[in-house]
This record gives sequence, structure tokens and C-alpha cells, in this order.
Amino acid sequence: MLRVGVMVSGGGTNLQAILDAVDAGKITDTEITVVISNNPGAYALERAKKHGIEALCIFPKDYENRDAFNEAFLNKIDEYHLDLIVLAGFLVKIPAAMIEKYEGKIINIHPSLIPSFCGVGFYGLKVHEAALERGVKVTGATVHFVDSGMDTGPIILQKAVKVQDGDTPEVLQRRVMEQAEWILLPQAIQMIAHNQIAYHRRGGEKA
Ligand code: GRF
Repeated sequence: MLRVGVMVSGGGTNLQAILDAVDAGKITDTEITVVISNNPGAYALERAKKHGIEALCIFPKDYENRDAFNEAFLNKIDEYHLDLIVLAGFLVKIPAAMIEKYEGKIINIHPSLIPSFCGVGFYGLKVHEAALERGVKVTGATVHFVDSGMDTGPIILQKAVKVQDGDTPEVLQRRVMEQAEWILLPQAIQMIAHNQIAYHRRGGEKA
């Protein structure tokens, strides 16, 4: 049974896609053990509670500095003995110690076809604004392992989504969610739960 922790910061539609996939039997041999947010107002926490899943908030402002938060965050994660940590719209930089301790066990969903429109500053609507500004005809989403960089870890799954004339960032974001994100993330979890994905550190990545 794969024990999964989902890290969220916002509305939680990707979390909901995971929960729906578990209920529909598209994700098996998996337990969504805990949902953790840095944002007490995240609707994702409500989605977890409605589904009977432990949901908690670890609030950076409750700690005197980033190091204290990072330590508390990692200690909290360790309490759940997780096999997989899923970043589903989590807007907090993962502490280096956590990347090291959980290497190959942290995955992230990014709303573009990495290496396009990713890295520092590319999150949420900004990703789609950049794609429209560049005039790409195809965008999409990527599930990747999390390493010490920003959106630089080994790619697991990708799915392309057409950009349509007249798309606004909001319309494009919704299409990418519906046609890519909400499909890829459950798919990746199911593959990991059944040992169908091998983790290999990208070349040049420091240990
Ligand atoms: C999604 O667009 C995801 O790709 C990005 O953050 C957003 C989270 O949305 N990482 P939600 O909270 O899952 O609705």
C-alpha cells in the first residue's frame, strides 16, 4: 500500500482529481494519508476533510525563520512515513534536507511542457500568460520528480494540449487542467504505486 502525502496551496483541483481516481479505482493499492498546506485558506484542505483525509496547515509565519519552518515541515512529513510526496500546486520551496531525504519520492505537476515556461517565476496563471505571449500552438502539463532545482527533475509524464485562437490565460489554464493535469497526476501515482516508474537522477545533479 503506497502511503501518499499531498502538498497543496490553493483550490485543490489536482488533489480532487487524485481523490476521484482513488474512488473510481483508477488508483489502487494507494492510501492518501495526509494533505498538508502552507495556506490555512486553501480550499484543498476542505476537499481533503470532505473525503475524510487528515488535513493540516503548516504556516511559515508561525516560525521565527525559514530554517525553523523547514525543520518543522520535515519533522511533520516524517511523522507520516510516506512513500510518495505529491506537490499539487504547492507554492513553498521544498527544503534541501527534504529533497535529499526523499530523493526519488517527491513528484510535482507543472502546467507546461517542461523545459518550456518553467523555473523561477513560472507558476499558476503566469505560465499560461507566457505561453500565450510567446504564441505557442501547443502547450500542456508535465509530471516530474523534484530535485534540488526548480522544475528541473527527471520528467515522468507529459501531455500536450492545443492552444486555441482567442484563448485567455484563464481559459487555457482550465483546458490544461482538464485535458492534462487531472489525467497525468493520477496516472503517475498509479504507475509509481505499481513500480512502473524508475527514478534516475539527471546527469550532473549533485547528490
Ligand atoms: C495547477 O495549475 C498546477 O499545475 C500548478 O498549480 C495549480 C494548482 O491548482 N502546479 P489546484 O490547487 O490543484 O487547483
